[in-house]
Amino acid sequence: MKAIVFTEYGAPEVLKLKEVPKPKPKDNEILIKVYATPLNFGDTLVRKFNSITPKKFHMPFIFWFLGKLYFGFKKPKIEILGSEFSGKVESIGKNVKRFIAGDQVFGYRGPRMGAYAEYLCMNENDVVAHKPTNMSYEQAAAIPYGAIMALGSIRKANLKAKQSVLVNGASGGIGPIVVQLAKKHFDAIVTGVCGTPRIPYVISMGADKVIDYTKEDFSKNGETYDYIFDILGKCSIEMCKRSLKKNGSCLYVSFKMKQVFQMLWRSIAGNKKIVCVMVNENTKDLIFIKELIEAGKIKSIVDRCYRLEEAAEAHRYFESGNKQGSVVLTLYDEHNI
Ligand SMILES: NC(=O)c1ccc[n+]([C@@H]2O[C@H](COP(=O)([O-])OP(=O)(O)OC[C@H]3O[C@@H](n4cnc5c(N)ncnc54)[C@H](OP(=O)(O)O)[C@@H]3O)[C@@H](O)[C@H]2O)c1
Repeated sequence: MKAIVFTEYGAPEVLKLKEVPKPKPKDNEILIKVYATPLNFGDTLVRKFNSITPKKFHMPFIFWFLGKLYFGFKKPKIEILGSEFSGKVESIGKNVKRFIAGDQVFGYRGPRMGAYAEYLCMNENDVVAHKPTNMSYEQAAAIPYGAIMALGSIRKANLKAKQSVLVNGASGGIGPIVVQLAKKHFDAIVTGVCGTPRIPYVISMGADKVIDYTKEDFSKNGETYDYIFDILGKCSIEMCKRSLKKNGSCLYVSFKMKQVFQMLWRSIAGNKKIVCVMVNENTKDLIFIKELIEAGKIKSIVDRCYRLEEAAEAHRYFESGNKQGSVVLTLYDEHNI
């Protein structure tokens, strides 16, 4: 089968189309023909992991070190990127109960990656579910990572209708789904923060207001919020204090040890809470996300599709700063909604 393989870290050019062995499903696995796989933050991070220093990494040093151990210090140990996918079940192992051949599915492989390939195997109990009926393969493929992380983060808040939420980093993989869940599922009042080109995109996700971080520091405009979701961990503790209501909380989806210590300290000493969020992916959440999509509460906007062999070009566009939604590799073009 064809796959995009990288054997050295670096610029998008390291991604090469190669012939690799087609996987065979074990008794409890399904073989999936991949129709679409999106690019996300993790793909570009792992592709250039050699140049990511602990300082550039948005999580504590120990996560960086474990990441380096897992993905390889000098050269990649995992040679096929792609953590999300949609596609069709081609065949099943003899013990599989949840799926039959021909099922349309979408899923999340996390750090195992391997979705930039024509086929992949998933254990039937892995994070894989039937594809939402109201989405194309490209739209559905772009959902699992962002939605699972957004749902896990929003569950750490006790969000109620008409409360105010600020999403700092509303235009990437996770932020747009935090915006949609807060607005459409919890009926909150939502402000998104993003860069200039993606303001219309964040408005289309349902944000009531959008702040351009290149032009305005949200913490200096006098507005306060019940919850701040900080996707890249860009808010200082001082910014949080200024922008949170009296009993508000800041949820750091990315954080350093400084925020962990603040979380512990403020849990004893403060009424403005700090929460460092850790999310574990699971199948139940993906099934719930499918239901939310079918209920019209989550959508995805695909900006551009590329063919598998154009992966390097897709990575260049993803990193150009111009994207307005998801960038997806389309492997098999059956627009079967
Ligand atoms: N805690 C967990 O369990 C967990 C799980 C998975 C991932 N993560 C973390 O989540 C992060 C990736 O999130 P993602 O996939 O959403 O990333 P992403 O797709 O790269 O999006 C980053 C977002 O941050 C915005 N941004 C960039 N610079 C900013 C600034 N100075 N101020 C405010 N916003 C800024 C971007 O806006 P523009 O693009 O419009 O400029 C974009 O909206 C990583 O740090 C990862 O470690 C945490």
